[in-house]
Amino acid sequence: MSESITIGVKPDVKAVTLCTDEQYQEMYAASVADPDTFWGEQAQRLDWIKPFTKVKNTDFGGDVSIKWFEDGTLNVCANCVDRHLPERANDVALIWEGDEPDQSQKVTYGELYEKVCKFSNVLKGMGVKKGDRVTIYMPMILEAVYAMLSCARTGAIHSVVFGGFSPDALAGRIEDCDSRFVITADEGLRGSKKVPLKKNVDEAISISGIVEKTLVIKHTGGDIDWAADRDIWYHEAVEDVSADCPPEEMNAEDPLFILYTSGSTGSPKGVLHTTGGYLVWTSMTHQYVFDYKPGEVFWCTADVGWVTGHSYVVYGPLANGATSLVFEGVPTYPDASRFWQVCEKHKVNIFYTAPTALRALMREGDSYVKAADLSSVRLLGSVGEPINPEAWLWYYNVVGQERCPIVDTWWQTETGGVMIAPLPGATPLKPGSATRPFFGVQLALFDNEGKKLEGAASGNLAVTDSWPGQMRTVYGDHARFQQTYFSTYKNTYFTGDGCRRDEDGYYWITGRVDDVINVSGHRMGTAEIESALVAHEAVSEAAVVGYPHDVKGQGIYAYVTPPVGVEPSEELRKELVQWVRHEIGPIATPDLIHFTPGLPKTRSGKIMRRILRKIAENEFSNLGDTSTLADPSIVDSLIEKRLNR
Ligand code: PRX
Repeated sequence: MSESITIGVKPDVKAVTLCTDEQYQEMYAASVADPDTFWGEQAQRLDWIKPFTKVKNTDFGGDVSIKWFEDGTLNVCANCVDRHLPERANDVALIWEGDEPDQSQKVTYGELYEKVCKFSNVLKGMGVKKGDRVTIYMPMILEAVYAMLSCARTGAIHSVVFGGFSPDALAGRIEDCDSRFVITADEGLRGSKKVPLKKNVDEAISISGIVEKTLVIKHTGGDIDWAADRDIWYHEAVEDVSADCPPEEMNAEDPLFILYTSGSTGSPKGVLHTTGGYLVWTSMTHQYVFDYKPGEVFWCTADVGWVTGHSYVVYGPLANGATSLVFEGVPTYPDASRFWQVCEKHKVNIFYTAPTALRALMREGDSYVKAADLSSVRLLGSVGEPINPEAWLWYYNVVGQERCPIVDTWWQTETGGVMIAPLPGATPLKPGSATRPFFGVQLALFDNEGKKLEGAASGNLAVTDSWPGQMRTVYGDHARFQQTYFSTYKNTYFTGDGCRRDEDGYYWITGRVDDVINVSGHRMGTAEIESALVAHEAVSEAAVVGYPHDVKGQGIYAYVTPPVGVEPSEELRKELVQWVRHEIGPIATPDLIHFTPGLPKTRSGKIMRRILRKIAENEFSNLGDTSTLADPSIVDSLIEKRLNR
């Protein structure tokens, strides 16, 4: 987005009391000048069982070692629930809004405590012990939150797998972290469609074979298969357990969760987050970036299957004693007014969603927004992908009625929480820019040759020093952690994103510079989709790239070469689309499949992705040097038959 857009935020749009621009500057300077003192103080926002004496012990060189508050002990669940009881037992912790608009439920902190203690005792009864990995494959129901908090309470490590992933994808994630326990529901509901969660779990278990116990929440009451030696109904198990379950004392660096995310190569990586630093980071960013004040209703629309749901549906808000809204449905069911109706119904104060949802709703027209009373809403947030000017302005003018600041938050599964964002009131906004780094975040831009760029510049975005919310390793593969994030630039964490810094020191994220694409705010490795495609017998070679898509941000463009003797056809195209949905899940559905007898390759056999990307983007006038191609004529035929015109 260009900075020349003159839409200003009205001068009286100030949501804030937390921080002025000067205070931000001062606190930022202090956070990077003396991280030990700064974070030592900030960590006091949590209740520690045993106080830490060391704050930061991190090294981005060599094997990479990241430790924060390493000799302190605490329990995340106790910080999110128990410690609020003296003051907030009767305050609402969670509001659940079901798929159907007539379903909702409120749970106070007092009730949450009892639910979580009982859930934890059910887990213990199943044999779950500290350090065990527990896979959670759930719809957006309150039991998903209880399950996560109960793992934290008992010291188990949760691995939440998004309910839209296929049995194959689920099996891969179960196996990778050797998870012997799965928590699921009979079925999920999204926009009145049923999602066969238990059936998918059964199928995943038949693939991976290591699961010993499955805990099943009865949600829709749909028919499911039952394995009596393995499956346990939650509603039956919970009848016999006590409501008392003391939280496990955890070291600050004990693992809290694993969350799988896609990269440029190989299978998804198990991003590992630990206990103390992660909770300090999510709690502090939730308070400052969203200017959260006690008593407010905070709604982050993300699913708990993604990091945004972990950090801003569950851990950040609950650590701050907030009221967090959990939404099971989709933005367009029963119609495109759903988000706004929910804001009105539950008097939401802070609303946090993804640009892809805004673009989809914007297309339906303003009347859906205008029909709702949005007077409670005072702050809007955006996450997951760059927000385009049109969507930003619509969000600001129509949803925010020109009175709500927008916080565009840049971060990643790996970063644990928000890294670049305005502090509302303190930071003058520029539409399309995530603005400035959060406390403790030291950013740098590098060119492709590894030279650090100063001042206003465009380059590859990196972070030069550790922050408490940073991932600690790739589960089970520390070498991959070092290789993926710390080998591109010396002693520096490389984000994989391209970025421009303007003359005011504002950051403008331009998108991934690696082979990762962002489809509807969901991150996907092109290599994953390629390997799903080539697993089909009618595909001998495949190359997948992203292309600009009006609603999804990026669409999936697949070049496919069938083996000799197989004729491309509409049936084959449909079959391949279904195949990928089955192998990975609906989020990986290819938008365009371009059959081609060959792919552009160098003489050494390397696929020239740069060319494929340009053709998919319909920007082929300047393809650069094609003279190194083994067969340059293939490019003309690809251009002629291109599908995105
Ligand atoms: O490319 C950036 C994009 O999403 C990537 C991280 O994806 P994931 O780990 O799934 O986490 C998404 C939610 C935190 C980043 O590398 N991204 C995220 N937020 C923004 C963004 N791109 C531009 N602007 C953002 N605000």
